[in-house]
Amino acid sequence: MKGVTLWFTGLSGSGKSTVAQVVYSKLKQQGHKVEILDGDVIRTNLSKGLGFSKEDRDENIKRVGFVCELLTRNDVIAIAVCISPYKEIRDFNRKRIGNFVEVFAKCSIEECIKRDPKGLYKKALAGEIKNFTGIDDPYEEPVNPEVLLETDKETVEESTQKVLDKLKQLHYLEIKEEEISSEEEEKIKERLSSLGYL
Ligand code: ADX
Repeated sequence: MKGVTLWFTGLSGSGKSTVAQVVYSKLKQQGHKVEILDGDVIRTNLSKGLGFSKEDRDENIKRVGFVCELLTRNDVIAIAVCISPYKEIRDFNRKRIGNFVEVFAKCSIEECIKRDPKGLYKKALAGEIKNFTGIDDPYEEPVNPEVLLETDKETVEESTQKVLDKLKQLHYLEIKEEEISSEEEEKIKERLSSLGYL
């Protein structure tokens, strides 16, 4: 089992934590070593005291990236869940970690405002919170993420499946025997037959 970092990025309320939690549970159930680093939790310990200026967000993302690197090189599946609005620093982590799968939880700002699970958009729109991502602070969308989730169009189950499928496709998870498609099975049979095994 190779380690990998699954890097969830997206606006607040885009559903990244929800999907990440289900992915985490499924992988754990399957017996994998997996750890989750969620921005909201990280900011109460590892990044306690950091705010939301570009400098502080970059520092936060670097710290999370550093821990993900340690976990990944010890064959753990590290799941980072941070808004991580700046492309440059996400790419910095990608280079540093190597085994890096970027998961973009894409959701329109209108839908995030409608959901507003923590009531923060309401405060940001009223000017009570400054520099809120998507309102008066930037979010740079990933250009070519390994996984694109359209959380305002698909179910949590569909999004979860996209992430797990990509991990299999990139050979971070083994494909179980029953999951081999009939087309692949045919190819394997042909190859075995040409080698004289069948
Ligand atoms: S990041 O930009 O540094 O990646 P991170 O994911 O750790 O952000 O934290 C985002 C969480 O902090 C949000 O889900 C929200 O609950 C809270 N938060 C508080 N203030 C802000 C703000 N100004 N912009 C975005 N999120 C904020």
